[in-house]
Amino acid sequence: MKTALVTGASRGLGAAMAKALAAAGWAVAVNYAHDDAGAARVVDDIAMLGGKAASFKFDVTDKASVRHGIATIAHELAPVELIVNNATGPQPMMPIEDQSWDDHLDQLRFFVKAPLLLLQTVLPDWKTRKVGRVINIGSEVVDIGNPDFGHYVAAKAAMVGLTRSWARELGPYGINVNLVAPGFVPVERHATATADDIEDYRRDVPLARMGVPEEIAATVGFLASPQADFITGQTIAVNGGRTLA
Ligand SMILES: NC(=O)c1ccc[n+]([C@@H]2O[C@H](COP(=O)([O-])OP(=O)(O)OC[C@H]3O[C@@H](n4cnc5c(N)ncnc54)[C@H](OP(=O)(O)O)[C@@H]3O)[C@@H](O)[C@H]2O)c1
Repeated sequence: MKTALVTGASRGLGAAMAKALAAAGWAVAVNYAHDDAGAARVVDDIAMLGGKAASFKFDVTDKASVRHGIATIAHELAPVELIVNNATGPQPMMPIEDQSWDDHLDQLRFFVKAPLLLLQTVLPDWKTRKVGRVINIGSEVVDIGNPDFGHYVAAKAAMVGLTRSWARELGPYGINVNLVAPGFVPVERHATATADDIEDYRRDVPLARMGVPEEIAATVGFLASPQADFITGQTIAVNGGRTLA
């Protein structure tokens, strides 16, 4: 059984991705940094459905924690062969005048630093064995250019750049790197979104409805599968067509 690491899988989209990958036969490392109960719930849900998962609490933005976390996963499950870079910290919105360099770094830590630390940790093993796959979780905001959000949009755009550069550099080793760009998919952290907020968004979706976490997870499952063996360096928008050119 091959092991997939889903970062930030104690709730939200990551939890749905963990469940989808487990259903597809992966042993899933459910990563998180704070919410012990949430991560335990995801692991229990997977076990109840006959899948294999375990939780691994470590901060994906910290080098020593990542090194230790990846080694622990290899010991308790098996060496990681798929990394889904999904974890996110808070995503505050603010006008340019209020954005500090630290606000930008806060986003880059999750969307550039963490994916880099994780990949660097597994890469010697992946290159030797010619295995491995990366799925980055981006966002439609890169195409839309949401205002008051430059720090988040820029970091998510950087993820697209990483995806493309890594795909070319690692292709010769048989390592695929792709990116899934969700639209607004309400999860636990959107509990305060009003019906009007959701309706305003829905009105711009060609498919005329909101997406659900399972639909983002299904695309991750596809990119993790052998059916996607010849796909690399791509961005797949999963947003009901909202970013159609
Ligand atoms: N939901 C959407 O509408 C949407 C739209 C476009 C893109 N996205 C992207 O999809 C991804 C998931 O979003 P979401 O809405 O599902 O987020 P979420 O519900 O807020 O979940 C974030 C996850 O990251 C974990 N986390 C936070 N800090 C961490 C750290 N330092 N190390 C490891 N894990 C950490 C959290 O766990 P703990 O609290 O336990 O640490 C939690 O499991 C993000 O990359 C987001 O940008 C989401």
